[in-house]
Amino acid sequence: MCGIFAYTGKKDSVPILLDGLTSLEYRGYDSAGIFVAASGAIKAVGAVNNLKAKLPATPIRGMSGIAHLRWATHGEPTEANAHPHHDCQEDIWVVHNGIIENFKELKAKLISLGHTFMSSTDTEVLAHLIEHHLREKKDLEKAVIAALNDVEGTYGIAVSSKHEPEKIIAARLGAPIVLGIGENENFIASDPTPILRHTKNVIYLRDGEVAVITPSSHHIYTLDSVRVERDEEIIDWDVEQVQKNGYDHFMMKEIMEGPEVIVNTTRGRLITDEGLSKLGGLEMVAERLRLMNRIIVVGCGTAYYAGLVGEYMLEEYAGIPVEVEVGSEFRYRKPLIDEHTILLAISQSGETADTLEAIREAKRKGALTLGIVNCVGSTIARETDAGIYNHAGPEMGVASTKAFVSQLTALALLTLFLGRQRQMSLSVGKRIAEEIKALPEKIQTILAQKDAIRAIAEKYAGSRDFLYMGRKYNYPIALEGALKLKEVSYIHAEGYGAGEMKHGPLAMIDEKFPTMAIALSDSVYQKMTSNIQEIKARKGKVIAIATEGNEEIRDLADDVIHVPKTIEMLSPILTIVPLQLFAYYFAVKNGQNVDRPRNLAKSVTVE
Ligand code: G6P
Repeated sequence: MCGIFAYTGKKDSVPILLDGLTSLEYRGYDSAGIFVAASGAIKAVGAVNNLKAKLPATPIRGMSGIAHLRWATHGEPTEANAHPHHDCQEDIWVVHNGIIENFKELKAKLISLGHTFMSSTDTEVLAHLIEHHLREKKDLEKAVIAALNDVEGTYGIAVSSKHEPEKIIAARLGAPIVLGIGENENFIASDPTPILRHTKNVIYLRDGEVAVITPSSHHIYTLDSVRVERDEEIIDWDVEQVQKNGYDHFMMKEIMEGPEVIVNTTRGRLITDEGLSKLGGLEMVAERLRLMNRIIVVGCGTAYYAGLVGEYMLEEYAGIPVEVEVGSEFRYRKPLIDEHTILLAISQSGETADTLEAIREAKRKGALTLGIVNCVGSTIARETDAGIYNHAGPEMGVASTKAFVSQLTALALLTLFLGRQRQMSLSVGKRIAEEIKALPEKIQTILAQKDAIRAIAEKYAGSRDFLYMGRKYNYPIALEGALKLKEVSYIHAEGYGAGEMKHGPLAMIDEKFPTMAIALSDSVYQKMTSNIQEIKARKGKVIAIATEGNEEIRDLADDVIHVPKTIEMLSPILTIVPLQLFAYYFAVKNGQNVDRPRNLAKSVTVE
C-alpha cells in the first residue's frame, strides 16, 4: 500500500526511479511522483505511465531522488495530493506510506506558526515539521528525528533536501522500508522488488529506526539517535521472477507457476517413506509444539481463506482445535489465549497491518506465534517466534493466486508435522506425503485445459452476478473463488457453503444468476448434487468443478471443468486453479486490468 523508491548514486536517477516505480505498481496507482534533488519534481494522477508522459515537457535530471506511488488514504487522488510533498521553501521533500494520525493538530499548529499547506494529505505535515525543526537544529538528520518524535501513527518515509542532494533519509514505524546496498549507489524502497535489478544486498529497517544513505555510505539510527549496526542480507529472488516473461499479465503468469510453486514450497521438506514433513523453521519450537492444544489462525483476504482450509486439515489430521479469524476482528475482541495456544499468521507480504497487530496482541497474551509468510525478512517473518516460508517467489498480481496455492501446501506440511507429533499413523502420513508430491503434475493437467476454461468464462462473461458454492474442504474455495472474481472483474460474486443455499441465497437464483459448484467425487458429493439440482429447478445455470472421470455430472450441470483425483484434504489445492483461471479470463473478456484492480493494493500496511 503506497510504494516508495529512492536512489542516490552516480547515474541519472530519473530512469532508475521511473523503472523502480513501474515494478512497484501493485502497491498503488492513484498517483505517481518523483523529486530529483538537483532539479525539481513532477507528479501525475494515475499510474506511472501518466508520469512518464509528462517528462518531455518538464525534463528533470540529477543523481539522487525520491519517488512515490500513492494508494489514497487522506485526500482525493489529485495532483495536489500526489507525493512527494514539500515544505514552504520547496527545499525539503517527503514521500510517505502510512497514516499520520495526529496530522490535524500538527497542521493547525504549523499553520499558526506561519506555514502554508498545498494539499489535504497527512503527509505534508512531515515536510513542514522537518522545516520547523531544521530552523533550530540546523541538521537534517536531527530535524527528521525531531519531527518523527512529534508524530503519532505509522510511516515508512524517504526525505530529500535540495541543500544536501546526495543524501536521503528514510525511517519506518509500522510501514516497511528496505535499504538496497550497491556499489557507489544506494537505494530505499517499500519492498525489495525495485532494488533487485541493481543489487541483491539489502537491509530491512525495523520499527523506530532511521537510515541515512549517500552514494557511498549507509548508517542506521534509533529515534534516540543511537547508532545501530546491522548486517546486509542477500535476497535470493531473480529479476526474471518480477517480470511477465511473455505473459500478458502477472496474474496469468502466477497461476501458471502453480506446479513450480508447490515444488518450491515442499523442496527438502517431505520425507515420504516416514510420512513426515521436515520444517526447519519450526525446529526451534518443535518440543513446545507438542504441548500446544489450540490454534488460532489469523490472516486477511486470500490468506484468511487459506486459514479456513487449514482449519479442516489441522482438525481432521492433527486433532487440534482450530479457530480462524480475520486480523481486523481478532485484535478488537478479547481473545482467550494462554501459553498452550498457537497464533498462526498467514501472510504473503508479511506486512499486512491487521495481521501484524494480531500477532503482537497474541504475543502480549503469551501465545506461541508462527507465520506462514512468503516475503523473507518481512515484519511478520521477523516478529513471529518461528515459521514456514512459502518460497513461492515474488507475487506481483494484486489478486493473490500462486501464494494461495503455496499457503495451502504449507498448511498441509504443517498438518503432517503436527499430526505425526500426535496421533497420525505412519500410513496416513505416507499417503498425505505421496499425494502432496503428486500435486504439481495434477495442477499441470488443469492448466492444460486453460483454453476450455477460457471458453466457459467467455460464455458467462456477460453475467453481473455469480454464486460460488462448495462444502467441507471446498467451502473456503467457494469463498476464495468468489473473491477472485470480485477483485478482478468487479462483479457481484458470493461464496456460500452449499448447505446454506436454502437459508437465503437460493432466493436470488434465476436464469441470469449462474452458480459455480465445486462438486468433487468425495464424502459430500451426494449433498452437492442435491444442491445443484435445487439450483437447476430454479432455472439457474451451473458450472461444475468435478473429479476426472465423472461424466454423469454433465446431465446436471451446464458446463463442467474436471480436476484430477486426490485426497479430500488436498483437493482445494486443485479446485482453486480453475477458479483462478475462470476469474482471469472473465475479467480480461470484460476489458479489466487484472493486475491492477481498481481501489485495491497488494500490500495493505494501514489498518
Ligand atoms: C490484499 C491483497 C490480497 C491479500 C491480502 C492479504 O488485500 O490484495 O490479495 O490476500 O491483502 O495480504 P497478505 O500479504 O497478508 O497475504
